[in-house]
Amino acid sequence: MKGRVLVFLMVLCLLFVSFAVSYGQQASKDPVLADVHKAKGLQCASCHEKGKKVKVDDNEAIPNKQCVVCHGNLSTLSKKSKHEINPHKSHLGDINCTTCHHGHKPSTTYCLSCHNFDIKIPAGTVSAPLPSIKLPEIKEIPKGIKTEKTDIVVVGSGAAGLSAAITAHDKGAKVILLEKMPITGGNSQLAAGGMNAAGTKFQKEKGINDSPDIMYEDTMKGGKGQNDPALVRILADHSAKSVEWLTELGADLSDVGRLGGSSVNRSHRPKGGAAVGAHITQVLKENATKRNIDIRINSRVVKILEDKKGNITGVLVEGKHSGLYRINSKAVILTAGGFSANPEMVAYYQPAYKGMTTSNQPGATGDGMQLGEKAGGQLVDMKEIQIHPTVAVGSRILITEAVRGNGAILVNREGKRFVNEITTRDACSAAILKQTGKTAFLVFDEGIRKSLKQIEGYFHLNLVVEGNSIKDLADKLKIPSDVLEDTISTYNKAVEAKNDAEFKRPDMPRALKTAKFYAIEVMPGIHYTMGGIKIDTETKVINKDGKPIKGFYAAGEVTGGVHGANRLGGNSISETITFGRIAGQKAAEFVRSKR
Ligand code: FUM
Repeated sequence: MKGRVLVFLMVLCLLFVSFAVSYGQQASKDPVLADVHKAKGLQCASCHEKGKKVKVDDNEAIPNKQCVVCHGNLSTLSKKSKHEINPHKSHLGDINCTTCHHGHKPSTTYCLSCHNFDIKIPAGTVSAPLPSIKLPEIKEIPKGIKTEKTDIVVVGSGAAGLSAAITAHDKGAKVILLEKMPITGGNSQLAAGGMNAAGTKFQKEKGINDSPDIMYEDTMKGGKGQNDPALVRILADHSAKSVEWLTELGADLSDVGRLGGSSVNRSHRPKGGAAVGAHITQVLKENATKRNIDIRINSRVVKILEDKKGNITGVLVEGKHSGLYRINSKAVILTAGGFSANPEMVAYYQPAYKGMTTSNQPGATGDGMQLGEKAGGQLVDMKEIQIHPTVAVGSRILITEAVRGNGAILVNREGKRFVNEITTRDACSAAILKQTGKTAFLVFDEGIRKSLKQIEGYFHLNLVVEGNSIKDLADKLKIPSDVLEDTISTYNKAVEAKNDAEFKRPDMPRALKTAKFYAIEVMPGIHYTMGGIKIDTETKVINKDGKPIKGFYAAGEVTGGVHGANRLGGNSISETITFGRIAGQKAAEFVRSKR
């Protein structure tokens, strides 16, 4: 009897196991793109390198080439799109198909890291997984791992990294540029309002009277005097030259507007007021490609390597497909950006900002600060985190300060202005957070819409409420229309009198008179981290004893000191280009001295 029960139980067990296995197989049988392609007769070798241990390189070059052969490039695909929001045409430029479409796992939509679009993707799930916010702990470097050699490794492919790589290359160094994300461009690609520079030919053409001294004063004042004065001097003195350099590379920075905290118009951007970041990074990428610079995406630096004396000797990289490998180099330039998209780090350094939204790309997780500190670098001003006043409510989309610079006003739910709209970001954000609901309406008219190309993007993204009259707009916003009419009429009188008696706004370029009238609901969001690795005026990383670390350079948002307690709008792109170029030049000189 006992035996029979045992046999019965064993059969039951077997049945259960076989059901579980077949259910599991079923669950993982949802077709992924590899299955779909195989069914259509495509061979594995179309996407994978035959006979190689790593069958796809980290840039995923072969599968992407194959996608284009069969489906056409992004521009061809975007022409075929029936969607209002075209997933194949974006500010991200020419990205890999494999950024979203994956062969052996469900495809993911990269755009959904920041936007709330209703986009379905073949063989896909919804949004792309976010990068881990912690660097893996590497206790020991595994023996026998693949090792490469170069002169300079640049970590991070935003404007600072690209500028550093191009400059170092042009000075004769062999460069490898590493980017952990599946696309290049970092946060720079999202920069909107402009690039600050003083004394440029574009300012002179427009009769704007500016100088590096005025830019220095504005920047120090904006940073509450906490900035490193020597770094600010460099920022201001080199800014016009940086605009010239970008222009020589093919950029258009001919439009000049005003961003918060600047006492004159000095924010340079493309003609018509288009966004500066997408344009500049595109120009830099094209220049890097033209020079055949070795750029590797999906390649996360997990450790900066040093010798026993603390000199930098290279990096350890985790490639998406190639796994852990080592690059020996004479110098490393860290340009890995800030940590606005790392909620844990934000809450650690500024508990008051816990849980706040961010305008940043998902890769801004502070890898650079973590890497730099572990390699002996000193961190400064880490608690100085900037909240930008105008992130669109319900999204992560930054509404550029340039809209206010070109004349928009901020009103609260009671229909009233409450702040000088072009004051510094900290002051403006603090004022919004004091209003009912901690949000505000950014109000503008047809004239302002026409003055700034970037605004069209907000319409495209359905972020704007439209009114045929001020009353119509107020009714749609559910705010008192008589108060809003009165607010706008008082403001228009101030524009005419060139005197804002209420809030002392120093620059009011346009009255709000031309229908239609528009509004975007905005709230402050984490935008920029002023703190980071301490550098000297040659971008050498400074250690905890105040001495430069040999072979170690850093530039851009990963560094601290340039902006003090608060960055001025337009100073970030300026910093990335100026200090990126210096880092490239100084690292190349260092490499030459070692030959
Ligand atoms: O509002 C903006 O356009 C942002 C500019 C900046 O952060 O420099």
